[in-house]
Amino acid sequence: MTNLTSNFEPNIVGFLCKWCAYTGADLAGTSRIKYPPNVTPIRVMCSGRVDPVLVMKALSSGADGVLIAGCHPGDCHYTSGNVKTIRRFKLLQRMLDQFGIERDRVRLEWVSASEGERYAQVVENMTETLRTLGPLNWNGGKEV
Ligand code: FES
Repeated sequence: MTNLTSNFEPNIVGFLCKWCAYTGADLAGTSRIKYPPNVTPIRVMCSGRVDPVLVMKALSSGADGVLIAGCHPGDCHYTSGNVKTIRRFKLLQRMLDQFGIERDRVRLEWVSASEGERYAQVVENMTETLRTLGPLNWNGGKEV
């Protein structure tokens, strides 16, 4: 019997802070580190700019998972943007619970500009987790 999900490749939307995580992703590329191509990166000025509504919109528009990645605590270029991110992420997790979406589908990670290897590991790990969870196919909670 064929397992229909065996070839499943998750779509991951990555909101990456321009100053740290996006540059870390760039470094992973220029260093020719191999990692899964499943993340579609969206450059944001700060992880604190990622409104939970954007994450839910990505999930309802076909993403199987969302990665939010920013500067390590204490390194945010806007001083406390990522502190806001930590607070919002807790809210986001409760929203996921309300919609019955696994919390593992949305991840918050700190990646500095010099951590290309770490960025690749995060993507590798998240892709593997989502392969196990399977497709999300969430319509945004609309009645059908
Ligand atoms: S500038 Fe990177 S998280 Fe704020």
